[in-house]
Amino acid sequence: MLRAPADSITIAPRSSATGRVRVPGDKSISHRYALLSAIADGESMISGYSPGADCAATLECLRGLGVAIRRTGPSSMTILGRGVGGLRAPAGALDAVNSGTTMRLLSGIVAGHSFRSVITGDASLQRRPMRRIIDPLVRMGARIEALDGRPPLTIDGGSLQGITHEPQVPSAQVKSGVLLAGLHASGRTRVLELVPTRDHTERALEAFGVDVLRDGTGVEIAGGQRLHAQSLTVPGDISGAAFWAALAGGTPSSDVHIDGVGLNLSRIAVLEVFRRAGVHVEFSRDEEHAGEPVGTVGFSFADCESFSVDPDEVPLVIDEIPALAALAAMMPTGRTFTVRGAGELRVKESDRISSLAAGFRAMGAGVEEYDDGFTLESRPLTGGAVDAAGDHRLAMAFAIAATRASGPTTISGATSVDVSYPGFFDELARLTR
Ligand code: S3P
Repeated sequence: MLRAPADSITIAPRSSATGRVRVPGDKSISHRYALLSAIADGESMISGYSPGADCAATLECLRGLGVAIRRTGPSSMTILGRGVGGLRAPAGALDAVNSGTTMRLLSGIVAGHSFRSVITGDASLQRRPMRRIIDPLVRMGARIEALDGRPPLTIDGGSLQGITHEPQVPSAQVKSGVLLAGLHASGRTRVLELVPTRDHTERALEAFGVDVLRDGTGVEIAGGQRLHAQSLTVPGDISGAAFWAALAGGTPSSDVHIDGVGLNLSRIAVLEVFRRAGVHVEFSRDEEHAGEPVGTVGFSFADCESFSVDPDEVPLVIDEIPALAALAAMMPTGRTFTVRGAGELRVKESDRISSLAAGFRAMGAGVEEYDDGFTLESRPLTGGAVDAAGDHRLAMAFAIAATRASGPTTISGATSVDVSYPGFFDELARLTR
């Protein structure tokens, strides 16, 4: 594996992958623990916090809102909460960098404060749709300006009223942003989901002592509740583990085990999809931290079959589709992977449908692109030059598939892995031969 000077890396073909890994702390859970600690009463301690740039952006935004955060180790810190409604007016714009989760969840919190906040981000984030969070927050009583529904967002918060919100697009970020605003609102706030999305916010709120009413796909909270500081451990990120699943599942004589992974029911649908493709998957839930189950997962090689992800499953595996595509590209020639009903992929960190199609095609796979998904057909991979489009999950997906190509693959935009998985390429080198 050669590191080229700029933002690119070259991956050489490898023949097997074995070992045990620990993945970085879960990105979704890290954001939530930091945000809730900041609005709790008292000092919280967080360990296992994601080392990625996205979660660092959340911490920087919170510092900008007057929150005292003290690092106690590479992935641990204390956060002195300012209480619900107690954040300080920021002196400048809050920079969410590449993180949609930071922008959408933080919007819900600052909407409940009677000062002006401006939340901005990098070029990729500035292209992402924000009406889905602006509309409900405006209905609750905030004033929000955006550029044609896109960042930066200028939010004049204040006294909010609870609402019932039915998001048109399944989104854990929107659900969470509205619930966090609801904590600062009068009355009750209810979110009704068409299809369930990850429930880390609900579990984290409960861990901080908030009463959360959940029935079916409805979540409801009463405003004005206080949060009590906690000592928290973030489980490993199953979305990062999915890349090792693809590596082990697609490489003969391979077997990778991952310890300390979050196994929340709303995140493990991807394990079923890997199983459906034929990968040997085993997992055990060993403990629970703050309502989040944690355990070990193991993946080993199999001669995979064609597989697909149904539109109904998409919200539960949305972040793992690049990893599933990597497995598909490594399968015996002529097998396919189809995903439909995944138009949301076009508004992630990149247009994940067109960038993924272009990258895998450049490596030798066959990809047919649809508005709402794609079919990838495995063909002998040659390697070549691919562009991750600055998207961390695409950089990792191309790198995994590249290990099975006949020649080297140079990935540009490779440092984007730092968004969720710093050290990814070193781990890949360690696991493969
Ligand atoms: C996330 C929710 C998902 C996911 C993102 C993290 C979260 O986005 O793609 O990486 O932490 O709530 P949407 O909720 O917008 O689908």
